[in-house]
Amino acid sequence: TKIEQFQKALLEWYDQEGRDLPWRQDHDPYHVMVSEIMLQQTQVQTVIPYYHNFIAKFPTVAALAAAPEAEVLKAWEGLGYYSRARNLQTAAKQVVQDYDGVWPQTAAELQKLQGIGPYTAGAIASIAFGEPVPAVDGNAFRVFARLFKIDADIAQPKSRGIFADVIQQVMPKDRPGDFNQAIMDLGSTYMRAKDPDPAHSPVAAFDQSYLDDVVLDYPVKTKK
Ligand code: ADE
Repeated sequence: TKIEQFQKALLEWYDQEGRDLPWRQDHDPYHVMVSEIMLQQTQVQTVIPYYHNFIAKFPTVAALAAAPEAEVLKAWEGLGYYSRARNLQTAAKQVVQDYDGVWPQTAAELQKLQGIGPYTAGAIASIAFGEPVPAVDGNAFRVFARLFKIDADIAQPKSRGIFADVIQQVMPKDRPGDFNQAIMDLGSTYMRAKDPDPAHSPVAAFDQSYLDDVVLDYPVKTKK
């Protein structure tokens, strides 16, 4: 089917050309959580050294839970948005205390952790636990709006669910984490916001906004 061809083209590209990032070395939920929280408001290139240092200082969720808060904030210095660091440590304490160190493995359960919203829960559940759930951030809005010419206004809260439903239908159930991360890589390269290069994208043949020459009309976003 066309959906299967799209999945194959995307994942073959990801296997060959996906970025080799430190948090992609394994599928440890702690590694995924730390990286995703850092990446929320901070660029990949800035995050990389902070991620290495943070994991070296706090190698496990138990180590983070047990650390003095001042040490956690010190490791965060320069990243900004310090509530992320406090929430991250609270989430680590929840995993250790409320779940006896056994990670909740679904997006629905992960959202009960401090600072873990729908996006981060989807990222951890799909990447670390293989749950076929989308991780809908700005990248995913842009990529799927362009691929399928989705006209839903991404400034409207109800659009998240519309996009999540579409993504569910096209994601391969056997590789949801790789699929979500492939979308992130597509969104930062061929399908970036400014000066995109959709003609050379691995999924150009499936990119309806490119085929119709209306790429920059998507995503639709009214000012709030
Ligand atoms: N941005 C947010 N999450 C990411 C990830 N896992 N890899 C690359 N960029 C990201």
